[in-house]
Amino acid sequence: MLLELARARRVLFVGGKGGVGKTSVSSALALARARQGARVLLVSTDPAHNLGHIWERALGDEPTRLATSDGLVDGIELDPKRTIDSHFAAVSRTMMRLLPERLHASAREHLDRAKAAPGSHESAVLERIAELIQTSRDDYDLLVFDTAPTGHTLRLLALPEQLTSWTESLLANRDRSERFAAAARGLVGTKQEEPSADAELRRALIARRDRFAAMHTALTATDESGFIIVCVAEKLPVAETLALAGELAELGIGLDAVVVNRRSPADAGTLLAARRSREEHYVDQLRSSLPSIPLAHLPLVADELAGENALGRLAGLLADA
Ligand SMILES: Nc1ncnc2c1ncn2[C@@H]1O[C@H](COP(=O)(O)OP(=O)(O)O)[C@@H](O)[C@H]1O
Ligand SMILES: [Mg+2]
Repeated sequence: MLLELARARRVLFVGGKGGVGKTSVSSALALARARQGARVLLVSTDPAHNLGHIWERALGDEPTRLATSDGLVDGIELDPKRTIDSHFAAVSRTMMRLLPERLHASAREHLDRAKAAPGSHESAVLERIAELIQTSRDDYDLLVFDTAPTGHTLRLLALPEQLTSWTESLLANRDRSERFAAAARGLVGTKQEEPSADAELRRALIARRDRFAAMHTALTATDESGFIIVCVAEKLPVAETLALAGELAELGIGLDAVVVNRRSPADAGTLLAARRSREEHYVDQLRSSLPSIPLAHLPLVADELAGENALGRLAGLLADA
């Protein structure tokens, strides 16, 4: 079921509580789709990345080839600091061009403060997600985002609208100041200056606004993308799953499936059988609280889930999940 579902999507977000198996499931899903011929980009947005660790490869902000079969898997660990630095460098260049020399020091101070402001990290992550969704169309059939633990993920997904209106108010202010400037020029009769730096900043802001709007549409208004929650059948992960499902519904983001990971076997001794029957209680709770959402069960495996071979075995189990 999970695989059919992934086949129908171009963008999948995998979320859930820390430690439940998001990175393992994302990786197995990517590999399973690659074996069916898909070109998959696997992106970790978790500040505590472990994607590279699981694939036993050093990963960075640009795609690295992780596996080739009929299709392929490339991996990225997003580096928001790099995005923030390059973004601020561009804004700073434009500002310095626009402002007289005597204002440069205070402009720099202002930019440094803005760079450290709460939310700049999140918006940089979001900007990269939006950019990848927009630019990966020709190179990849599926993007899998292995996202950070619950609260963080939601903040990120809830932000595009706020960021869009923020960009819009900046644009509106620019419109106003341009009108003032034009009026002042008319009054004092100075020669009109070439507004190229200003136009450049404006173009950048509009591109950013369009990118966020496109991501928001992809998430909420099309069948192109979906969200999968991974959990284990225990009290807290199930409670967090239900809270996350509720918040996704509020944000208008479709929940495709819940993966119940690390299911204990019923036939491997009394300890595990006892665990299995305790898990049933939480599975029932998921079923009754989310009656329309499919549940996919993945067994507890003995393997150390690291490297392509082990991930391949988990990918094999996904076919039945
Ligand atoms: N089905 C499974 N069976 C056994 N161990 C698993 C399974 N899925 C995940 N694990 C293990 O659980 C731990 C957490 O998995 P990970 O994918 O890193 O979680 P997350 O990304 O949600 O923090 C890892 O040690 C991983 O090997
Ligand atoms: Mg992880």
